[in-house]
Amino acid sequence: MEKIIEILRYSLENETLIKLSFGSLRKKSNLFKKTIVRPLLLQGELCYQIEYHFTNKVTHSNLKKEECLPLFEELIYDTYKQINLFCVDADYQILVSNTDKPKIIKKSATKTMPQLAHNKEKKYILPDGTPFDFLIRLGVMDNSGKVFQKHYAKFRQINRFLEIVSDVLPFLPEKTLPDNKKSQEPLRIIDFGCGKAYLTFALYHYLKLILSKNVSIIGLDLKTDVIDFCNMIAEDLKYEELQFLEGDIAEYSEKANIDIDMVVTLHACDTATDYALIKAVNWGASVILSVPCCQHELFSQISNDLHKPILKHGILNERFCAVLTDGLRGLKLEEQGYEVSMVEFASLEHTSKNIMIRAVKTGRKSAAAGEKYRRLKEYWHVNPTIDRLV
Ligand SMILES: C[S@@+](CC[C@H](N)C(=O)[O-])C[C@H]1O[C@@H](n2cnc3c(N)ncnc32)[C@H](O)[C@@H]1O
Repeated sequence: MEKIIEILRYSLENETLIKLSFGSLRKKSNLFKKTIVRPLLLQGELCYQIEYHFTNKVTHSNLKKEECLPLFEELIYDTYKQINLFCVDADYQILVSNTDKPKIIKKSATKTMPQLAHNKEKKYILPDGTPFDFLIRLGVMDNSGKVFQKHYAKFRQINRFLEIVSDVLPFLPEKTLPDNKKSQEPLRIIDFGCGKAYLTFALYHYLKLILSKNVSIIGLDLKTDVIDFCNMIAEDLKYEELQFLEGDIAEYSEKANIDIDMVVTLHACDTATDYALIKAVNWGASVILSVPCCQHELFSQISNDLHKPILKHGILNERFCAVLTDGLRGLKLEEQGYEVSMVEFASLEHTSKNIMIRAVKTGRKSAAAGEKYRRLKEYWHVNPTIDRLV
């Protein structure tokens, strides 16, 4: 029993508890059949909601962290025989019997910590209701910080993007300037195919103005009018280390042969994504965030007798080619020494272009990934642009 109490104490003290459920009654006469515990934030303080399941109703009470262990002990000793504990680092299945020693089965974690807020209101890095100069200038919010309804999806996407950026910060070289001196090398970032640059401005604002990092950010796009517009806003807002250049991704080269630390490319069409990835790897970028779209290249190349009956349907061929293109890109990045995850960028209800290739440099090249890439290429008879990455 002591071991069980120790596991529970650890999960409370280290705030790793995601869900705890008690079931299988010791005595049939007990009023509540099961009890479930979940963390929640109450006025900024981590508390635990205790949910008691009676035959015909469910009741709740909220406890402070330090009040939980005595209750858990009582429930284990007096009420229940089975405990399922889900923590950030592991899952535990515990069976308590009156006669034998308790059985504790530890498994790898299956749950992640949810966003903790009692009213489930999402906490954004850039909250609605706070005026941000660039969001006002780009027409996303009014002067008081209220987000315009028609731009809410964009606002959510900007915050989602910043959340992903915040997750990859530990993989970027440490170039923070506590006292904002200019002497230190900046963190160099390029946003390829920046368009109207909502996300480029957001990135600059977050890294430079919120986190006080020394950054130098370039947004590149084919469109002259868009570039002029973005440069005008950057100048007005005195975002001095943010500049916009007109040009084609495939032809872009860094003037002074300076390597780039992070490459962003969001919705740059078709093979423009491949050129962005190739450049990123050749610079040795520590982080690559890429949301591909319009993956048309393989559509007319793909051929495989077994799969012909499926791929004869244009829409299936199109969707499959998008998956294959990004899968091959991911393998190529792994071969080149990146750890790759495919993460959901925007909710599917807003756009189907919602998969982000998130790659962080480990330097561990993977010949096995390269071999898988070659076998897939052969199987599908395709020759994607990402092949130029050698
Ligand atoms: C759909 S917009 C995305 C804008 C922005 N990245 C975003 O996600 O909000 C795609 C942008 O990529 C630019 N683009 C496409 N191909 C490009 C290329 N080869 N070189 C530079 N820009 C390109 C287009 O001009 C367009 O502005």
